[in-house]
Amino acid sequence: MIDLRSDTITRPTEAMLDAMRAASHGDDSRDGDETVMRLEVLAAERTGKEAGAFMPSGTMTNLVAVLTHTQRGGEVLLEQNAHILNSELGGIAALSGTFHKAIPGKRGAMDLDVLREKIRPMTRNNFGTSLVCMETTHNAAGGAVLPLAHMQAAHALAREHDVPVHTDGARLFNAAAALAVDARDIARHTDSVCFCVSKGLSAPVGSVLCGSHAFIERARAFRRLVGGNMRQAGPLAAAGIIALGTMVERLKDDHATAKRLAVGLHRIDTRLVDPSDVETNLVRMDVSPSQRSAAQWSDDLKQRGVRVSPASANTLRFVTHRHIGAADVDAAIQAVATLWQSAGMGKR
Ligand SMILES: Cc1ncc(COP(=O)(O)O)c(C=O)c1O
Repeated sequence: MIDLRSDTITRPTEAMLDAMRAASHGDDSRDGDETVMRLEVLAAERTGKEAGAFMPSGTMTNLVAVLTHTQRGGEVLLEQNAHILNSELGGIAALSGTFHKAIPGKRGAMDLDVLREKIRPMTRNNFGTSLVCMETTHNAAGGAVLPLAHMQAAHALAREHDVPVHTDGARLFNAAAALAVDARDIARHTDSVCFCVSKGLSAPVGSVLCGSHAFIERARAFRRLVGGNMRQAGPLAAAGIIALGTMVERLKDDHATAKRLAVGLHRIDTRLVDPSDVETNLVRMDVSPSQRSAAQWSDDLKQRGVRVSPASANTLRFVTHRHIGAADVDAAIQAVATLWQSAGMGKR
């Protein structure tokens, strides 16, 4: 099987498994664990923040960030297709008592005029804006990278109103690779940021939330509140340290295979994918001209040894990662080409 469903299917490297075997087993929830602390320091250093807190998932780092930055009744402004809004089950409303206002966006970047209009102070009749959230790379926007100028402008706008900014950087290092900058050059335009070691970086579990010392101290209490204290998390953190040390540089290879895939799909039919939309390791293919649903396409591709996820009724999402090489991508393109022909679709 050529598995292009997600970069979360990546397996740990031998170096990660060795480091996991050798890791400390301190109780992170009691006296702290030495390996977890090392990962947190490294994560803070990579993002240019004062401190970090290790957690089991990206969803939890986002939730804890919202809990830590906001108060009940406050408004969280975020791009309308944000992962926090569409794929995290309304956790921010259910658990932090905030509610959201969706800002229209292009390729994951909020319309700054609308953002400016929606940010509002606390008055006697409402709690006002508590938080602005950004996402880079942007999952629903096909792995689009927020331009640094956009992040800088959104951050400045929020600051004018004393509103903090959190950035969901589940794939922060993919964004950094695409922009050819350090992750900290992105993270300087946000007060807090999280990233996952479990996705393209190939570690089995975990995400780190980074921010100021005071923010992270408070975040640790909320992490406990939502059940995120992991006790003997040393082996997981050990894999995360290797991920940051050895897997960041190679992300550009995943971007190259994604581009190769996009170009190949575009050659089958120009309506399927615009290769210029592909900036990182996600490729979205529009199957609507075929009159068949993305779910049907996904089933048919699976029969041909290619696994992909339907991202919407008419869109398939392909994700490249460490276990996908050029030959796999070429085989996936061939499978799509065959199905496209047999669906009666000619070349366009
Ligand atoms: C942009 C973004 N944020 C957050 C998450 C959540 O991460 P996790 O699956 O570790 O909870 C994902 C997962 O794919 C994501 O793509």
